Amino acid sequence: MKFTIHHYSELESTQTTAKYFLHEEKAEEGTVIIADQQTFGYGRQGKKWESLLGNLCFSVILTPEDKPLSDYGQLGFVVAVAVQKALHSLFPLLLINLKWPNDIIIDHKKIGGIIIEAEQNGVVIGIGMNVNSAPTGAICLKDCVSSALDLEEILKAILKSLWDVYSGWLTDNFDSVKETWTKHAYQLDEMIEREDTKGQFIGISDEGAMLLRDELGIIQKVTTVQ
Ligand code: BTN
Repeated sequence: MKFTIHHYSELESTQTTAKYFLHEEKAEEGTVIIADQQTFGYGRQGKKWESLLGNLCFSVILTPEDKPLSDYGQLGFVVAVAVQKALHSLFPLLLINLKWPNDIIIDHKKIGGIIIEAEQNGVVIGIGMNVNSAPTGAICLKDCVSSALDLEEILKAILKSLWDVYSGWLTDNFDSVKETWTKHAYQLDEMIEREDTKGQFIGISDEGAMLLRDELGIIQKVTTVQ
């Protein structure tokens, strides 16, 4: 796949610009919007995303037309697996975990986040990666590796990996993504509490719900709004 990269020094949010490209410019699959800084970067559930210089903030337009809408909930996991694989290829010694639904974790702290926004004519996926700095409580790659960090190299690795994992998902089913995601899942097998449900985290469903086995042995599904 060919990615077309539009690079800006500053934007309100690469998500907003990507949505504009999708609606007004009929942008094609593979259009990438990247900004050195964002003034109104946002994450899931409308949370503010700190977009400091030296970090990666970008959005990618995908048009998985042949997939039913009901499968779109799997996309966040497709992207998370792609990011995990890309980081692993660049920094093989790093232990990277994937936290449900769409966070990238190192050393129990958030290093990256993913947002998926389905629009009428495509999906805009946003990836924020703390490379050189992190907000309080989070972590950045610079804290974890001794090698030099090249933002462009990291971007390229993520895009390449995204295309590999996404194409596999388009042609096959969710199984391999689900398996890889689960292998790296943060807090797998642990007792956790989410949205008033407490249980052992045993994996994810095909709709992307979190599966918790409660004290009665009943599997409860926890879903989320993106
Ligand atoms: C989350 O953790 O809730 C998701 C964070 C997603 C942040 C990225 S940065 C690039 C893109 N533009 C945005 O405004 N948000 C996403």
